Amino acid sequence: MQLVNNHYTIQGLSVIEIAKKFETPLYIYDADKIIEKIGILKSSFPNVNLKIKYACKALTNISILKLMAVNGVELDVVSPQEMELGLLAGFTGDQITFTPSGVSFDEIEKAVEMGSKVNLDNLDVLEKFGKKYGNTKPCMLRIKPNVVGGGNLKIMTAHEGSKFGISVLQKDQILEIVKKYDIQVVGLHQHTGSDIKEADAFLKAAAVMFELAYSFPNLEILDFGGGFKVAYKDGDIVTNMEELGKSITASFIEFCNKYGRELQLWFEPGKFLVSEAGTFLVTTNVVKIDPKINFVGVNSGLNHLIRPMMYDSYHDIINVSNTNETFKETYNIVGYICETDTFGTDREMNKVSEGDILAFKNGGAYGHTMSSNYNSRFRPAEVMVINGEAKLIRERENMNDILNHQVLIDI
Ligand code: LLP
Repeated sequence: MQLVNNHYTIQGLSVIEIAKKFETPLYIYDADKIIEKIGILKSSFPNVNLKIKYACKALTNISILKLMAVNGVELDVVSPQEMELGLLAGFTGDQITFTPSGVSFDEIEKAVEMGSKVNLDNLDVLEKFGKKYGNTKPCMLRIKPNVVGGGNLKIMTAHEGSKFGISVLQKDQILEIVKKYDIQVVGLHQHTGSDIKEADAFLKAAAVMFELAYSFPNLEILDFGGGFKVAYKDGDIVTNMEELGKSITASFIEFCNKYGRELQLWFEPGKFLVSEAGTFLVTTNVVKIDPKINFVGVNSGLNHLIRPMMYDSYHDIINVSNTNETFKETYNIVGYICETDTFGTDREMNKVSEGDILAFKNGGAYGHTMSSNYNSRFRPAEVMVINGEAKLIRERENMNDILNHQVLIDI
């Protein structure tokens, strides 16, 4: 979103006009931004066989998935449903990797049948995989490297107490099962966490993976997960892709030389690709001047964007209806849900009036995908701005969506 001649725009289109046309609450995604981020990632890892596997849990709209496919990005999924969305969007089974957490074995079988690679995340499932497929199907192992990294405990996945992956300390048990069934382990995977502030967490995890990799002679892939940190506010620490690219590339090439074969280097970014591309628009229902606090109440709540309430995350909020900087006020921006759902506290903003459109930045990742029908409200519509045009990619829900699957019984 850019401020041009006192109007907020996306690819030259007025944000206010988009809001008028599609109404609010509305998620808007800027395709150019996503393509730019794909380009940054690709150019940060030169001279290696890089594959980007978009962690689509961040934003699963099928048009977004298609945009990824068209731009040479493959897919990481966590459920059979995400896999089906991927297939619908044009990915082939072998372009999709299944990285579930503690799922039943039939989900693993389904992924294998579709020709997808599966990251096995516990010893029991490895044993089951061996019994069923022996050496006839390749698999990957999700390793827990015991490295701490991530924005907060809820989104850290690689520390010792985390539920994710097979602990690196269980190497001997892994090797025993692999040997017993002659399992074809073609890849090792790890994902440290999301919003990783600690720049060295990536390198620490990579070092654990390189060392472990020598015990697996048939590897084709090392997958280092996602978690690249993007800015949510001015001055935020971000992952320096150029620097990270240089150090990972150098150590990866050195590892491949020692290992004796050139492997594929995979990453699974979610936020990095889509967070900044997304803007969430809401309308001001009420400006409530309380003796203590000025509240701006909007036509949305934790049912549409739960990140601030769930992770204390910060989303910049801009009054796109009023670009006059002369009169500023401090507000708490709150939702309409019947519990405290505060989007932002003590935000100094251009004066807000009833009817003003507010824009939440960084709405692309884990925004719409984490939305719900709480309070029996409709989930928002989604629009993609592509080639200078705003296109509807998800209709706003209606009462049929709320009633769908409910059964009114005779009482
Ligand atoms: N790979 C795996 C195995 C993951 O579990 C995740 C995210 C990713 C990749 C992508 O991580 P990213 O690049 O987006 O940081 N709802 C939370 C984030 C949950 C992340 C879950 N796993 C939030 O809104 O902050």
